[in-house]
Amino acid sequence: MEIIIKPDYGSLCDAAALMVLTGLRRKPDLVLGLATGRTPLGLYERLRNSGSLFGKARFFNLDEFFGLGPDHPDSVHYYLRRHLIDGVTHDPRNVHLLRGDVQDLEAEAEAYEEEIRAAGGIDLQILGVGSNGHVGFNEPGSSLGSRTRPKALEPETLEHYRQAGAGEVPRFTLTMGVGTIMEARSILLLATGEEKAEVVSRMAEGPVTAEVPASALQMHPRAVALLDEAAASRLRRRDYWKWVHENKWRIGRTKF
Ligand code: GLP
Repeated sequence: MEIIIKPDYGSLCDAAALMVLTGLRRKPDLVLGLATGRTPLGLYERLRNSGSLFGKARFFNLDEFFGLGPDHPDSVHYYLRRHLIDGVTHDPRNVHLLRGDVQDLEAEAEAYEEEIRAAGGIDLQILGVGSNGHVGFNEPGSSLGSRTRPKALEPETLEHYRQAGAGEVPRFTLTMGVGTIMEARSILLLATGEEKAEVVSRMAEGPVTAEVPASALQMHPRAVALLDEAAASRLRRRDYWKWVHENKWRIGRTKF
């Protein structure tokens, strides 16, 4: 896992937007996997301002709440439409969002895996991390080889949503599995603020364990964790990572 540390949230979002836009310039039909939550809001705002590059881009979501339809304000659909997809020029045929308002969750999960395969796989997966180490809705204890499937949220995650101003969100969800996420060609995980410092150190410098599903990213050949100073504050090798980032141009490695 490569660690990039930016001084603050604004510069973290600038760097993340540059990575996404660079990916789109190289491959206009980029297959994007999208996270929700507070963390990527600044990234999505910047992407909306460069909206014309998304004409051929393909969009997948990480997860969705069981029972919430696309128009429900707490749904992942609603969030992604509002904060990104409807704000950029896009082809509606390229929007592949997992639905939570279905009768047969297992069938929806299988069909979603098939849709990802048919698109040729996810090129760039945007991730956040829960304070308990979850990615998507893969709560601690999730199999690191898991595929898209139903999952139940931990009380801590439900509380996070309450504090973020959402109502009572459903405890059951559908989420890409850790194994599904790990098949993305590139992964860009964003973390900001002191409240993520502990989990970031467990994710990046602790053992690879299902207790911290985000730690699976240590096994990914092209995973970048883009952090602000506060989120990086408990990393033992913080100074090392800063040095690497500032000096890698010396060996011709400047690009993501
Ligand atoms: C949520 C979402 C994730 C998100 C994470 C962190 O439960 N399923 O996609 O990355 O939790 O959220 P936040 O960025 O608000 O801290």
